[in-house]
Amino acid sequence: MCGIVGYIGNSAAAPLLLEGLAKLEYRGYDSAGIALVGKPSEKIKAEKPDGCDIVSATPGAKANQGVIEIYKSKGRLSILSEKIRGGADLTANVGIGHTRWATHGKPSDENSHPHRSASGLFAVVHNGIIENYAALKAKLINEGVEFVSETDTEVIAHLLEKNYNGDFLGAARAAVSQLQGSYALGILCAEHPDEIIAVRNSSPLVVGLTDNGNVIASDIPAILAHTRRVIQLSDNEMVRLRKDSVEVYDSSGFPINKKEILVDWDVSSAERGGYDHFMIKEIMEQPQALAATISPRIGADGSIVLDGINLTAKQLAGFRRICIVACGSAYHTGVVGKYVMEKLTRLPVEVDVASEFRYRDPLIDKDTLVIIVSQSGETADTIAALREAKNRGARVLSIVNVVGSTIASESDDVLYTWAGPEISVATTKAYSTQLTMLYIIAFYIAHKLGRIDDRDLRRLLSALNRLPDMVAGILRQAPDIKRISQRYAYLEHAYFIGRNLDYAVALEASLKLKEVSYIHSEAYPAGELKHGTISLIEEGTFVVALACCDKLFEKTMSNIKEVKARGAEVMVVTTDDRRDVISEVDQIIYIPKTNDLLMPSLEVVPMQLLGYYISLARKCDIDKPRNLAKSVTVE
Ligand code: F6R
Repeated sequence: MCGIVGYIGNSAAAPLLLEGLAKLEYRGYDSAGIALVGKPSEKIKAEKPDGCDIVSATPGAKANQGVIEIYKSKGRLSILSEKIRGGADLTANVGIGHTRWATHGKPSDENSHPHRSASGLFAVVHNGIIENYAALKAKLINEGVEFVSETDTEVIAHLLEKNYNGDFLGAARAAVSQLQGSYALGILCAEHPDEIIAVRNSSPLVVGLTDNGNVIASDIPAILAHTRRVIQLSDNEMVRLRKDSVEVYDSSGFPINKKEILVDWDVSSAERGGYDHFMIKEIMEQPQALAATISPRIGADGSIVLDGINLTAKQLAGFRRICIVACGSAYHTGVVGKYVMEKLTRLPVEVDVASEFRYRDPLIDKDTLVIIVSQSGETADTIAALREAKNRGARVLSIVNVVGSTIASESDDVLYTWAGPEISVATTKAYSTQLTMLYIIAFYIAHKLGRIDDRDLRRLLSALNRLPDMVAGILRQAPDIKRISQRYAYLEHAYFIGRNLDYAVALEASLKLKEVSYIHSEAYPAGELKHGTISLIEEGTFVVALACCDKLFEKTMSNIKEVKARGAEVMVVTTDDRRDVISEVDQIIYIPKTNDLLMPSLEVVPMQLLGYYISLARKCDIDKPRNLAKSVTVE
């Protein structure tokens, strides 16, 4: 999705904006641009590089008024950066920047942000979708405004100018009050060259406070190199940044005090650190991420310590059911969670994708515990599902990676996964830590409800504690998995099968492969294949069978034999005590054995490596797969 940055301070803004945008590249984009306000940059202005929209201030402007310059370009950020020589000749200290992920209008120079108002008095960058833009645009055209782009964003620039009478904040407020939809905005005004105004509604935006000015960004990694002091804006809050002050206003325009958060991610965690891709770096970081998520939750006396939970045993006993809601891979952790929670707590557990849940009139009430899972804490459908659940009186507990994000701040209880920043679009370490949190919640509820005793709890926690080392052991097999993967670089289709928890992991294994390698892939409960899909199995069809679930092993083996008999090329992932399988299949990946319920945490790891190495062999753009974005902030 689009990325926004903004800087106001004592340094030259352009290089900082380009650097911030580079940090947001992982979110997915097709064009990039920056706008600066201040004194004109004479050198660049004289050369007028392609795609540079150099705009003078309004006619009759005051002598001390700034000039807005816009530089934007379709394609990679490096194209823009090259055109303006990394910003070396751009002198302004105030600016906004944007990476665009096209929604309204194709990727082009014209449709790239920033967009400007007719006279060039305002420039705006936008993340989100303005749902009523067509009506607003028609009205503006009627009033004589000429549009130069196909975007929904351009209406905002014109609305700002229409509502301006010298008061920048007032114009921003008036313009925003006419918008419906989702937006995070960064706005410049030529008559106020010492201010940036930003606002958010259903699209993420953070403010960073530095000793050398202030910044805005869609995501924390963009500002981590400069500060860890952050203010997370909530919906409908507007902020006015000056180089030495930050004022936040609520939706009614009243100034409010926002808490400053100290983010404990370090800069290196948002860098590739010698790896070819963030995806492999993050796969390799899983032992540390798991340990960081698990250890603070186990007290010295062996009990579970849940920092963000305020639920008593009495309240837990009042829940009639649990509902896990999330999107994509986070939803897949919920599928594992359902098996584990039902087994341990004996409460009915439902799991749903957020985009379905929110529109299906869900049967939930105050006796339902809704568990929301999200890495970013900003996924639009998941936020909507959370609000739906709260409106129906449910208690909402969320598992989130980004501190202070929208989902974290709107939930009744929050448990953070301490995975550090996840940059790769394809999630790995966030998935693994989400899974771990679901295990801990399941153990916690089951123990509080008396469904497992102290001894069971100790046994489960001790197995959980061993996961980081076991995952580290599996990661040492990476060179072998890389070698096997070369063989599958030219696949067109793949099927992942498994039963029970193995099936839950198959869903994630299949998604990992397809999203980065572009190989068509499906996950099926192994026993369900023969009800239709087996007709697709022919000579050479690639089938990955997950067979780690002890009690269903023989059944899965029967399904493996069924596809083998039809010519499939079969890879099996199983536990290292199953040496007898070797003769039955084409490839085998062994992993260590742990408690059956925890096997998903181990078996997903070789599947992440398989997805990564097959994509590497296919020379795919692994960290930025086509059409995908890291944080999906639109419906
Ligand atoms: C796939 C992937 C996505 C996310 C999904 C939810 O690798 O990363 O499927 O899991 O978009 O995102 P969050 O967890 O940020 O709500």
